[in-house]
Amino acid sequence: MKTRETTRLSRTQVAIIGAGPAGLLLQQLLHVAGVESVVLEQRSRAYVESRIRAGVLEQGAVDLLDRIGVNARMRREGLVHDGFSLVADDDRFRVNLRDLTGGMNVMVYGQTEMTKDLIEAAELRGTPVIFEAEGVALHGVDGDRPFVTWRKDGQEGRLVCDFIAGCDGFHGVSRQSIPQRDLTTYERVYPFGWLGILADVPPCDHELIYANHERGFALASMRSETRSRYYLQAPMDVKLSDWPDERIWDELAVRLGPAAAANMRRGSSIEKSVAGLRSFVAEPMRWHRLFLAGDAAHIVPPTGAKGLNLAASDVHFLSEALLAYYGSGSTSALDAYSGRALKRIWKAERFSWWFTGLTHRFPDTDAFSRRMQIAELDYIKESRAAQVTIAENYVGLPLS
Ligand code: APR
Ligand code: PHB
Repeated sequence: MKTRETTRLSRTQVAIIGAGPAGLLLQQLLHVAGVESVVLEQRSRAYVESRIRAGVLEQGAVDLLDRIGVNARMRREGLVHDGFSLVADDDRFRVNLRDLTGGMNVMVYGQTEMTKDLIEAAELRGTPVIFEAEGVALHGVDGDRPFVTWRKDGQEGRLVCDFIAGCDGFHGVSRQSIPQRDLTTYERVYPFGWLGILADVPPCDHELIYANHERGFALASMRSETRSRYYLQAPMDVKLSDWPDERIWDELAVRLGPAAAANMRRGSSIEKSVAGLRSFVAEPMRWHRLFLAGDAAHIVPPTGAKGLNLAASDVHFLSEALLAYYGSGSTSALDAYSGRALKRIWKAERFSWWFTGLTHRFPDTDAFSRRMQIAELDYIKESRAAQVTIAENYVGLPLS
């Protein structure tokens, strides 16, 4: 977006803050229905497209990409997974998602790739995304003519709009624009993090493997048949310098069990990072003309692969509500947005919290607690009812 175009933009229907999955997906859901929007992103396009993020799409998210016609590469390169494995101290079993959910599955396709596809679609369709928009500020949110301001290349931008969609993530400006007295937050910070690596080696299995080991959690995931993504539970203060690749591979082999270790291909990491785990929800997800969506309103521990998918379901609900307003003038769906989104969010928060508790080693995990984890995993292994429960949450609860 050239600077003169930036300052020329003065009015739109929906101002979207943040060019992550939530903001970019919302823009295209509105665009295909004829509603105008402008995305304001603080970072550069290169930075946004370089972020390594999650990699599992629920059917609902896949359906949205199909609906907006930004699905060709996902359909070509994405990996359909009918199940995943759970392993506890080398005792491994498979959760057959397709069988347990009457035919549902998940799509393994990197959020990074999905973001690139959405940005390319915005460019091709002419839906404005302003990168490197500094100092984005929200104004008049509690009035009838909200507007957003920002700076770029030393010039001031100002955009009058009908509504503002706060899709700017956990650290964004949108949620912080809501008076504290009008917001209730819920939070659980976990006493460990995930050390993740990306390597151009074939995955150790054709599906994901979640491991509960006495030394801690591990996850074997992937981005393609030639690019693997692995995670190790690690202390939040872990130093990457203490974890050279070889040590990571050795630890993964122990925690994921002998079958995975035997198939594991080692290689140099092309990305290595540590992320904290948190459960967080802010209520309500609306304040006058501002609507929060995605990480701006909630965070889940990545164990259940729900972060990206909740961003998708939020903007599904929000786009439906905005289209109802522009179609008929009705505000009832806008009024119901927060409650409708939160109903699904809290169930995903519960699943993510439960799955994290089942598979990770906590500081207070004593001998009894660990036996409870092992017993629950053993029960899931032997109970179709228990497996149906984990499967229906993993593939995604209905977008009701
Ligand atoms: N002004 C403009 N843009 C901002 C601001 C700001 N003040 N603050 C943050 N942003 C941008 C970020 O640079 C980022 O590109 O908002 C975007 C928010 O994107 P995400 O954090 O990816 O959040 P969301 O779109 O809700 O997607 C959630 O992304 O982080 C993962 O695990 C998360 O998978 C989940 C998904
Ligand atoms: C990933 O591939 O990054 C991934 C997959 C499943 C999860 C979390 C992360 O539960």
